[in-house]
Amino acid sequence: MAKKFQRVRGMNDILPQDQKYWKHVLGVAETQAIFSGFQKVSTPAIESAELFKRSVGGDTDIVGKEMYEFKDKSGAPIALKPEGTAPIVRAYLEGGMASWPQPVKLFYADWMFRYERPQAGRRRQFFQFGFEVLGEEESAADGELIGIAWQILEKLGLGQMHLAVNSIGCGDCRESYKKALLAYYKPKQKQLCGDCKVRFKENPLRLLDCKEKKDEKIRNEAPVMLDFLCVDCKAHFTETLEYLDELEIPYNLESRLVRGLDYYTRTVFEIWPQDLGSNFTLIAGGRYDDLVELLGGKKTPALGFAAGVDRIIEYIKEKKVPVTTEVIPKVFVVQLGQEAKKRAAKLLFDLRGQGISAEAALTKDNIGNQMKIADKFGVPIALILGQKEVMDKTVIIRDMNSGTQEEVRLQDVSEELQKRLPK
Ligand code: HAM
Repeated sequence: MAKKFQRVRGMNDILPQDQKYWKHVLGVAETQAIFSGFQKVSTPAIESAELFKRSVGGDTDIVGKEMYEFKDKSGAPIALKPEGTAPIVRAYLEGGMASWPQPVKLFYADWMFRYERPQAGRRRQFFQFGFEVLGEEESAADGELIGIAWQILEKLGLGQMHLAVNSIGCGDCRESYKKALLAYYKPKQKQLCGDCKVRFKENPLRLLDCKEKKDEKIRNEAPVMLDFLCVDCKAHFTETLEYLDELEIPYNLESRLVRGLDYYTRTVFEIWPQDLGSNFTLIAGGRYDDLVELLGGKKTPALGFAAGVDRIIEYIKEKKVPVTTEVIPKVFVVQLGQEAKKRAAKLLFDLRGQGISAEAALTKDNIGNQMKIADKFGVPIALILGQKEVMDKTVIIRDMNSGTQEEVRLQDVSEELQKRLPK
């Protein structure tokens, strides 16, 4: 026997029985995007590796440890995109959107790649949809954006969510915070894990991102950013919270929330199901007021979020949230005899051409077997064609619920179906 192949670790197929979840979740997200004035952008799976090093940060886990980075056949250093914001900003600049009326509101839905340890809700290829607003500084936008994220999860019927918000300030106030953090960590350096020893030297804010149990106590007692916010950042954050109050969205101030990407400034937030906790964050985002400039544009305040679709679907399945987006065939064509089979094939072709979803089992000859399949599909109507009907150019319309049957002329079939099919 020839060798059978398996999926590469951390990669998943989406089998037919799961497609309805994907359609449902992406449908809700896309509708929300249209309702809120976001335009769709698609960016390539591959970008230059440097784009992510410069924006997300070379010593973050996402880029330093998890990015699929390699050289293509020309030797150019490229990466499978581990996240969507940096490519969106690149496309905003490259696509001339910086000269459009601002803000520019963009939506995306794409595969992302991170070489992480696969586990529940964590895959190496995973799907995100995201919302990004470029060219908007006002805190009203922070409130609106968090509102959009919150409402998507509400529309998906996912139950009680926990919204964590924090502000990590601007470059200026972060400098004084970094100093305080270094002063606090300095005498404790020897006790830190290997990664934190490096973080202490290269990127002290990432010390708060450490997941090692043994560093937890030190981390929990570290100074918090909120105490170091400058006047403007403090006002911006207070107003953001006021907008959340106005939208009646319950939030939790989490002063240790820093997010695992370097481009953030000011507002950061995460939303996770109350019963599962922050390991199962469904939506996460924040402001990145310096990123456009960092990637070669002019100073442009911006903000956004991304949602993990694989994770949302896992949660929907676990909670048994009802999902109904399947297209159920409306008509099943049953045939008996060689000529009827040909006529049935033409009828199927014509019905589908007219926009009526129709099924058949042309390889089955036995009427009883075909009716069983029709039952399984749950169609409201079956069309039956035998030798007699072929000769007479008629067809039998059977109401599958009542069992009543009526013979109609073949040329009148679609008209008769329009009358009987549920709209
Ligand atoms: P992130 O927190 O890295 O942020 O990812 C956002 C969401 O993507 C997570 O909350 C999670 O639901 C999902 N996710 C991340 N990694 C995986 C994985 N390995 N498997 C399954 N799901 C995963 C960002 O990516 C930012 N670009 C968000 C953003 C947009 N900030 C501003 N705009």
